[in-house]
Amino acid sequence: MTAVKILAIESSCDETSAAVLVDGKVLSNIIANQSVHEQYGGVVPELASRAHQENIVPVVDAALKKAGVDMQDPDAIAFTQSPGLIGSLLVGSCFAKSMALGLNIPLIGVHHMQAHVLANFIEDPQPSFPFLCLTVSGGHTQIVQCNSPLDMKVIGETMDDAAGEAFDKSAKLIGLPYPGGPLIDKHAKTGNPLRFKFPEPQIPGLNFSFSGLKTAILYFLQENRAKDPSFVEDNLADICASIQHRIITILMNKLVKASQETGIKQMSIAGGVSANSGLRAALAEYSAKYGWSYYIPKFEYCTDNAAMIAMTAYYKYQAGEFAALDAVPSARAIFGE
Ligand code: KG4
Ligand code: ZN
Repeated sequence: MTAVKILAIESSCDETSAAVLVDGKVLSNIIANQSVHEQYGGVVPELASRAHQENIVPVVDAALKKAGVDMQDPDAIAFTQSPGLIGSLLVGSCFAKSMALGLNIPLIGVHHMQAHVLANFIEDPQPSFPFLCLTVSGGHTQIVQCNSPLDMKVIGETMDDAAGEAFDKSAKLIGLPYPGGPLIDKHAKTGNPLRFKFPEPQIPGLNFSFSGLKTAILYFLQENRAKDPSFVEDNLADICASIQHRIITILMNKLVKASQETGIKQMSIAGGVSANSGLRAALAEYSAKYGWSYYIPKFEYCTDNAAMIAMTAYYKYQAGEFAALDAVPSARAIFGE
């Protein structure tokens, strides 16, 4: 069999990305970020769709050129089918369908959350099956039990905000710009994580909740600002470290529980929040304590990217799982039930 060339497109939120994968190896992964949202303190769906529309042709072109693959060459076109912002998904799916139709090659629809997990297989070292993946991003927080590349089960997820939202909303309350997650991480580095105590929600099972934390932070800041207007400024590092510490302990305590319930000791983290230095350090620390082995994809493959879509598509290609040309993207689509 000649080398299988897959062109993949990711456009579920505010990153337009295209990647080329040849026989399981990523040859290019181009990502265009959309800075237009910063001034609004969050992603504006309509602006995201328009930016995807502008970015998609140059991004796909750059991905093909970098990989040295001709426009006519791909054997399949993959796209993020769900979940995401519907207008954003439509841009990627329409583009992918047009190319598949024009080149008369198969189309592969990919679930974005499955792809975050399979980002673990882009480079070595790779986990073996089964393993648990804590997928933490701006839109999702899940613990996924991965039995094989195409057999995954979501065993825990957030009931309200995602971990990334918990970071971003806390940052907003403090007065930091969007997206605040990386800034909390930065300030937390010099702070005392045990200085301020925020509550840990008592949610049964393996599910998460972050909305109570947000409310607790709101009241905490209101109270202290009333007493001392420069409270946040004077204690920024300790506040960030304490918030980060609570978000991380909420995540890690559930991962411990998931490991105990499933007996699985191979762990992975994926999604944008896995860039958090405190979470990475916690995973290393808990792994040493509980005898786990752990895996974290390279940063470029942790945040939204098309390489992970291409990797997932490669498994689907081998399994003959193709999408019809009338496949509809969906803002919410569950996987791993
Ligand atoms: O996976 P991702 O790039 O996009 C989504 O699918 O949402 O994740 C973005 C999220 C944002 O909430 C951002 O604040 C958070 O990841 N994030 C971080 C860090 N880097 C990105 N949160 C905490 N610490 C970081 N270093
Ligand atoms: Zn994502």
